[in-house]
Amino acid sequence: MENLELEGINKILDKKNITVLGIETSCDETAVSMVSLENGKGKILANKIISQIDEHSPFGGVVPEIASRSHIEYLDALVDEALLDANKKLTEIDGIAVTTGPGLVGGLIVGLTYAKGLSISTGLPLISINHLEGHALTPMLTDNIEFPYILLLISGGHSQLLIVEELGKYSQLGTTLDDAVGEAFDKGAKFMGLGYPGGPELEKLALKGDEDYFDLPKPLFGQNNCNFSFSGLKTALIRLSRTLEPVDKKTMQNMAASYQKAIVDCLIDRTKKSIEVVKDNRPDLSIKNLVASGGVAANKKITHELNNLALENDMNFSSPPIELCTDNAAMIAWAGCLRMSKGFLNSLDVSAKARWPLEEVRTE
Ligand code: KG4
Ligand code: ZN
Repeated sequence: MENLELEGINKILDKKNITVLGIETSCDETAVSMVSLENGKGKILANKIISQIDEHSPFGGVVPEIASRSHIEYLDALVDEALLDANKKLTEIDGIAVTTGPGLVGGLIVGLTYAKGLSISTGLPLISINHLEGHALTPMLTDNIEFPYILLLISGGHSQLLIVEELGKYSQLGTTLDDAVGEAFDKGAKFMGLGYPGGPELEKLALKGDEDYFDLPKPLFGQNNCNFSFSGLKTALIRLSRTLEPVDKKTMQNMAASYQKAIVDCLIDRTKKSIEVVKDNRPDLSIKNLVASGGVAANKKITHELNNLALENDMNFSSPPIELCTDNAAMIAWAGCLRMSKGFLNSLDVSAKARWPLEEVRTE
């Protein structure tokens, strides 16, 4: 991390209002947003997104080359639209935040190269953002949640429990030993012949089924740690369906509901364990907030059960609205605002990183 010269930083720190343009191209959404930070509060001025779902769905998953080409095609126009929506000129913003990892490297390079070009041509500072940090900080933007909090980060590529202590201070309580929870939803859905991405499709089908109909395994349930494991559950689903063939509509609904229940029970059990661990090991933090973020936090059954768990533990629960749970650029612009307000900026030699654990994110 390289900071700007002191004089430049002081000018930023003196500003009461910071406006940042955010660019997100780490996976299959091209997204651009504008967010401002005023008196500690965030405001979304523009939030543009082009989903590539239609381009990837024939393949049942994200095709990296298609994703990169699509980012190249749409990014520039989205930046223009975001400026228009926010009614701002480039000269009226303070910085450019861009996702530099983790993610698909081709897509990351498209966003990062664009952001560097914009930074050189305008003189605006560049802020490198970890995609997971974007998800982790979103509840501060949408619900004014304050540090510290316990975060359940659940997306297509990640399942983690973390303590978010302050900006750039994230400690992992547990992670997945194999598949991410979004992957478990997507693979289960793909196996059942549902559309891509599978999570929302599976949730819809599960609404019509009996969740107690099939007894599926709950890996690591009750264990004395905060880790997850989902690959055995997926295998159990595949085995079960082979014993039921041909599978009728009602059976499909029951399978979806029972599969979702097994996933949710695991998530709740592991989160419950993490609350115990934090109470025992970090009483100094007296954490009162439980937060879920990432695409899977769009699932209503998950948020309902997490809310109950928080109530049982005398905690508040919050998760961003659906459009800010799944990938978006507002979370990148917001993380950019917070970093910029502390003077944390990057030089132009920052590079894209396919792998970049949240625990390795720093502010100094
Ligand atoms: O955060 P995100 O948009 O992208 C990643 O960074 O991975 O998360 C996408 C994941 C996909 O696996 C998708 O199936 C899942 O979030 N997802 C859901 C729901 N909506 C999205 N999973 C379960 N229920 C949902 N309603
Ligand atoms: Zn994500």
